[in-house]
Amino acid sequence: MGKDSREARPVIALDFPSKSEVVNFLAKFPIDERLFVKIGMEIFYQEGPEIVRYVKSLGHSIFLDLKLHDIPNTVKSAMRRLACLGVDITNVHAAGGVKMMEEARLGLNEGTPTNREIPKLIAVTQLTSTREESIKKEQLVSVSLEESVVNYARNAQKAGLDGVVCSALEVEKIKASTSSNFICLTPGIRPVGANAGDQKRVVTPSKAREIGSDYIVVGRPITQAKNPYKIYHKVKEEWN
Ligand code: C5P
Repeated sequence: MGKDSREARPVIALDFPSKSEVVNFLAKFPIDERLFVKIGMEIFYQEGPEIVRYVKSLGHSIFLDLKLHDIPNTVKSAMRRLACLGVDITNVHAAGGVKMMEEARLGLNEGTPTNREIPKLIAVTQLTSTREESIKKEQLVSVSLEESVVNYARNAQKAGLDGVVCSALEVEKIKASTSSNFICLTPGIRPVGANAGDQKRVVTPSKAREIGSDYIVVGRPITQAKNPYKIYHKVKEEWN
């Protein structure tokens, strides 16, 4: 993927407990500003698919971050349903295996109405909250965290997925082991001077650009800001 084909808008993580907070937050942006937002488990489990339809009705692009992980047949059926929502990107856990990811791809392809573009499908590798020590002790993984991440990315590519969710610090290795147009969507981004919160290995938007991220996800620095629109533009400027 060339520089120009990267998503120019930072993806804002709409981590809010209910629709009213989402409505209030989005009202802080000009009405004609088309955003790219991430709808995750918290708001989806509270409001259901309706929240996706609502955000879409405002004209925003959506990454539906539900991280599916179940037997292949169940994930395929779930993806068929999600395909009807018209999101731009959605995801599964690579830990579900190649077969599960293949079925997820099929479900998404089959479920997308013919007049709509098939959503991009990406896989979560190792969560950025996972530490090397815990994959060794709890998962009995004998390779390094980085090798495990790269292996999951290769499996995702083999299964026909478009990319992965990963730490910006893993992008170079992943692209080298898959291909340059294999999407790397990276959370854990903090604009210069922002609080890292519970994120461990944070990267600035401009560093993420330099490393090769295709999409950056930014939550609290924007959602908790006094002036979200101002911070959003600062992040966007740093990213572009
Ligand atoms: O507020 P913050 O910028 O840390 O939000 C990052 C978002 O990205 C959160 O919604 C979090 O769940 C998500 N995420 C992450 N690390 C991953 C996958 C998703 O931080 N590996």
